[in-house]
Amino acid sequence: MKIAIIGGGPAGLYAAILLKKQRPAAEITVYERNRADDTFGFGVVFSDATLDNFEKYDPPSYRRITQEFAYWDDIAVHFRGTVHRVGGNGFCGCSRRKLLLILQERARELGVSLQFEAEIDNEKRFAGADLIILADGINSRFRDKHADHFQPEVDIRSNYFAWMGSTKPLDAFTFIFQETEWGPFIAHAYQYEAGRSTWIFETDPRTFERAGLKGLDEKQSADRMAEMFGWFLGGHQLLTNRSMWRNFPMIRSQRWVKDNMVLLGDAKATAHFSIGSGTKLAMEDAIALAEAMERTPTIAAALQLYEHGRREEVEKTQHAADVSLVWFEHVDRFWEFDPVQFAFGVMTRSKAITYDNLSLRAPDFVTEVDKAFAKQVRDKGFDVDAEKPLAPMFQPMRLREMEIKNRAVVSPMCMYSAEEGMPTDFHLVHYGSRAIGGAGLIFTEMTCVGRDARITPGCAGLWNDEQEAAWKRIVDFVHANSAAKFALQLGHAGRKGATRLMWEGIDRPLEQGGWDVISASPIPYFPDSQVPREMDRAAMETVKKAFVAAAERGERCGFDMLELHCAHGYLLASFVSPLTNRRTDEYGGSLQNRLRFPLEVFEAMRAAWPAHKPMSVRISATDWAEGGITGDDAVGIARAFAEAGVDLVDVSTGQTVRDAQPIYGRMFQTPFSDQVRNEARVATMCVGNITTADQVNTILAAGRADLVALGRPHLVDPAFTMKAAAWYGAEEVFCPSQYLPGKEQIFRNSVRDRQDFEDLKIKAKPKTRAELKAEATKPLAAE
Ligand SMILES: Cc1cc2nc3c(=O)[nH]c(=O)nc-3n(C[C@H](O)[C@H](O)[C@H](O)COP(=O)(O)OP(=O)(O)OC[C@H]3O[C@@H](n4cnc5c(N)ncnc54)[C@H](O)[C@@H]3O)c2cc1C
Ligand SMILES: Cc1cc2nc3c(=O)[nH]c(=O)nc-3n(C[C@H](O)[C@H](O)[C@H](O)COP(=O)(O)O)c2cc1C
Repeated sequence: MKIAIIGGGPAGLYAAILLKKQRPAAEITVYERNRADDTFGFGVVFSDATLDNFEKYDPPSYRRITQEFAYWDDIAVHFRGTVHRVGGNGFCGCSRRKLLLILQERARELGVSLQFEAEIDNEKRFAGADLIILADGINSRFRDKHADHFQPEVDIRSNYFAWMGSTKPLDAFTFIFQETEWGPFIAHAYQYEAGRSTWIFETDPRTFERAGLKGLDEKQSADRMAEMFGWFLGGHQLLTNRSMWRNFPMIRSQRWVKDNMVLLGDAKATAHFSIGSGTKLAMEDAIALAEAMERTPTIAAALQLYEHGRREEVEKTQHAADVSLVWFEHVDRFWEFDPVQFAFGVMTRSKAITYDNLSLRAPDFVTEVDKAFAKQVRDKGFDVDAEKPLAPMFQPMRLREMEIKNRAVVSPMCMYSAEEGMPTDFHLVHYGSRAIGGAGLIFTEMTCVGRDARITPGCAGLWNDEQEAAWKRIVDFVHANSAAKFALQLGHAGRKGATRLMWEGIDRPLEQGGWDVISASPIPYFPDSQVPREMDRAAMETVKKAFVAAAERGERCGFDMLELHCAHGYLLASFVSPLTNRRTDEYGGSLQNRLRFPLEVFEAMRAAWPAHKPMSVRISATDWAEGGITGDDAVGIARAFAEAGVDLVDVSTGQTVRDAQPIYGRMFQTPFSDQVRNEARVATMCVGNITTADQVNTILAAGRADLVALGRPHLVDPAFTMKAAAWYGAEEVFCPSQYLPGKEQIFRNSVRDRQDFEDLKIKAKPKTRAELKAEATKPLAAE
């Protein structure tokens, strides 16, 4: 078998090693345009888990690599004169040059032919090869040459970065966030061998311009950086090696395989340097390819298996890298944060590390985070213990005069169980049990402001006296038997009206018994949905009056808070999104125009709703669709509502158009809450695939939302908050007298359960290489 590998970086060399081990008779040649020891960059970093993989697949190179490594456990965050260190991270650094020399030596030993200074410009010269591996890096000529087939997407990110080195020793993975007269600069730095560290400097385009970095050569930029970070470098040099300022390209390829050619490493997909995974991905690609070649009878089958088997893992890492790079691009959002909260945000930015996870490995740090959070709550006039603080989830909050005992919220959820809009005993039990379950705030389902405002025949409403009396009974029960506050969500279905119950075909038009529907523009949801009537001014007045009347009824029912539903493609949302609003009058066109009617409705309700009671608005912060609402629009929407008197923005997403492409995942809508909260400076509630109290605490402590709503988790567990309170020892959680023995038991058991869980976690966690090395080199204690 003949294998040609274009590119002698980590991907190409490691693939050569693994394939040669597998097929000693194969003729494998690596073609590298540079000389053997002529490599750009300084260090690379691997996690312990990646090294475990290397140990499994090629012990000799693993041993040589690890002999050369610098190990560390801590991440240190320097911000506004403070340093926060968090241990237990298990990282190792190595010089890129040494890594490549080790891989070259190992490849040679095995009989791989290495050809340096061999620039390949046409794969046709390998016509006789059975397999051609394209490992030619980030600017892959071959990916671009066959772009029609591989379909790469290249997203050039806005921040500038430059990769430099230094003689400065470091004992932690170090992030330095540096305030300058031009704006924020960030250094990502780590040691990779004695007396050598990698320094990646990063800044946003405005700061880059203002600092006058444009057009400077390597030496001049290194001098500027040395000046800026001189206080930390303490006289150590900054070194350069092709250290030009660049913008990071996020690359994704639709296809990785063409005939007998396969893309590996950066050529196929990149991951931002802030999660240090580029070399890991490149070498693990090589592992995946070798595994696929082992398992299948033909090269064609192996390449298919490689692509299909590996894609999910690569995309997961890319997603984490995306989330991380966006955090760095928007670091100015958090610049005013308390330093410990800021450091917590750095640690938890890409979702892999959480509040509970940090509580295990850095308990003192988390206590500090809790204290800072509790102090902010104290500063708002609450008498909370800031010395022995409760977890953020159990810190109270105030909106106007409404006080909420904790930050867990039951998200609005249609129950499709009303008759002619009348809530039933099902609703009494449903809301009653969730209120007793301990959430600080519960929302009604979307409650419709008129018969024709309903989504389905099962939707609840508040347009007549009977409904008002039925809701009052539920509100009274909640107030009499729980400490929960109760918010009424009012909405109008718009073009999604006259559709079937959720379990009979969500958003599908009713076959019979439907009613006429209205919207901003006459665009049906599905092609076979009813075409809505475009609202004229008279229709707008009628709808506005219906909202106001329902708000007044809500006040008489005793609701504590009112939410206007402007999300998910319903009537008011249909005005906000350009995808559903094609109007040419003053209610269409610019965002300001599209917001006009929703704001009119909001303002009319605000005037009717008591001044001491808060109001929120639910928005879709993105349509997840080309040409639709984006996170930046959401900031504008939130600002407009805040000016009109909104107290909280409930940040949801999507459901505007049926061909949207949402990117789901844990806490997938939280970045939008983060953006709205920290750019528009308005309180937010986030929601969406948040399933654990650990996630709730992570989001709150990082300042990404003020309240956290959970929908589906509450459908199966009304006592979600009570259970979390027991876990975190938040005794204050309300429990009605009838249920006190249950509370006592779960609190008692939780102390033991938590201890067992933590012991297990600690026992199950293998020692990091840094810990093992420290143990091995510890001097023996004197007898
Ligand atoms: C600033 C920065 C910091 C980084 N930090 C880290 C880090 O800390 N940890 C980490 O793991 N990764 C890091 N990376 C990423 C890492 O460098 C890459 O992800 C990794 O090197 C990818 O390996 P590769 O083999 O796919 O590509 P490369 O290492 O780029 O190798 C491709 C090789 O192909 C050769 N080549 C290209 N075209 C041809 C041709 N036509 N003919 C012959 N040869 C050719 C090139 O000379 C090169 O040697 C960082 C990247 C950047 C930019
Ligand atoms: C059965 C069901 C009904 C829902 N009804 C509403 C609703 O009436 N109003 C609303 O704003 N969102 C509604 N939603 C969306 C939820 O409030 C929430 O945003 C969504 O379920 C994501 O949160 P989760 O992952 O915690 O479930 C509903 C969701 C579900 C599952």
